[in-house]
Amino acid sequence: MHQPIYLTTVFRYVGEGEALFSRRGAPIKYGREEHPNALALESLVASLEGAEDALAMNSGMAAIVSTLMTLLRPGDEVVIPYEVYGTTHRALDLLASRTGVRVVRVWPSAEAIIEAVSRRTKLVFTEVMTNPTLKVIDVEEVGNALRDGPALIVDNTFTTPILLKPLSLGATAVVHSLTKYFAGHNDVIGGAVAGPADLMREVWEWRRVLGAMIQPIEAYLIMRGARTLHIRFEAVSENARAVAEFLTDHPRVKEVHYPGLSTDPYHSIARKLFMKPLYGGVVSFTLRGGAEEAKAFLRRTHLVFPGPSLGGTETLAMLPAESSAKYIPTDVRRELGIEDGLIRLSVGLEAVDDIIEDIDRALGGCC
Ligand SMILES: Cc1ncc(COP(=O)(O)O)c(C=O)c1O
Repeated sequence: MHQPIYLTTVFRYVGEGEALFSRRGAPIKYGREEHPNALALESLVASLEGAEDALAMNSGMAAIVSTLMTLLRPGDEVVIPYEVYGTTHRALDLLASRTGVRVVRVWPSAEAIIEAVSRRTKLVFTEVMTNPTLKVIDVEEVGNALRDGPALIVDNTFTTPILLKPLSLGATAVVHSLTKYFAGHNDVIGGAVAGPADLMREVWEWRRVLGAMIQPIEAYLIMRGARTLHIRFEAVSENARAVAEFLTDHPRVKEVHYPGLSTDPYHSIARKLFMKPLYGGVVSFTLRGGAEEAKAFLRRTHLVFPGPSLGGTETLAMLPAESSAKYIPTDVRRELGIEDGLIRLSVGLEAVDDIIEDIDRALGGCC
């Protein structure tokens, strides 16, 4: 049943043994440290990821930074693919400039990651489906190669535990932007990290000192969204596949990236890696007309909403070269296929014919 929202910052606390709620034996007394709504969400994320424990935070970035702060020490080396969420790269750059952490950036593939790992490497951070060109990284291969080696942190935001449970593949911890598929309605920001209990205890300290705790209403909304995660993920995956197929045949479109297409170079690895033949709601495509044409497309759509984020009920479109991929050096960006005319769609739950009609009209130049 629905859990009440505990809109309180304090919980009755007289002393040890007399608390109203406790978490693994410790009293719950102050909302920045613990509260029942966070606890419920943490149990859910931990059970979906097959983790001993999880911590809910007020954003995906809070979960990522708290985990990096826990694991990294001055002088450590981090290996990370170029094509990972831009703000994660920014976080590493800020950490590097203050701690001497060395960041080694590589092509987004299991082979390139494994090859870059050296004796100095303390941590490998990767996503599974890269953003925006949806290259699929075989994290099982990475997990096998790194066993007894550096920590492996996997951002499972794009794939969700429906497709993949990174901890079972050798990851040390898994991080999420719960803002996306978990919450699913573009109305709440939140994040989580899941992993072994001893590591989560250390990350807990960072959450506490950073004040990165999720708020009760946000935790409740994410729990509500998570109830429909499976059916929403399936439905947006089906819509996205239909949109990708439509785009593939469109004369104004130069290239389509979607691992659900049998012609996509990452289809076979995705089929092997994912637990279900679903590939999520994100599709990206390059327009022959370049950046100007792509911007005009965003101005012309009616149903498709121009804006960042993904994994919600509404179809969204954005230009990665002007936002999330800006930090990638221009030559590497080109090599990755992130051209100025690349549009990233997060396909939503609207009737697929309506989505396609809107895209078709906007591509045709009509208002
Ligand atoms: C893959 C991925 N990880 C992490 C984040 C950060 O999450 P949040 O915006 O909830 O802080 C994002 C946000 O877009 C993302 O796409």
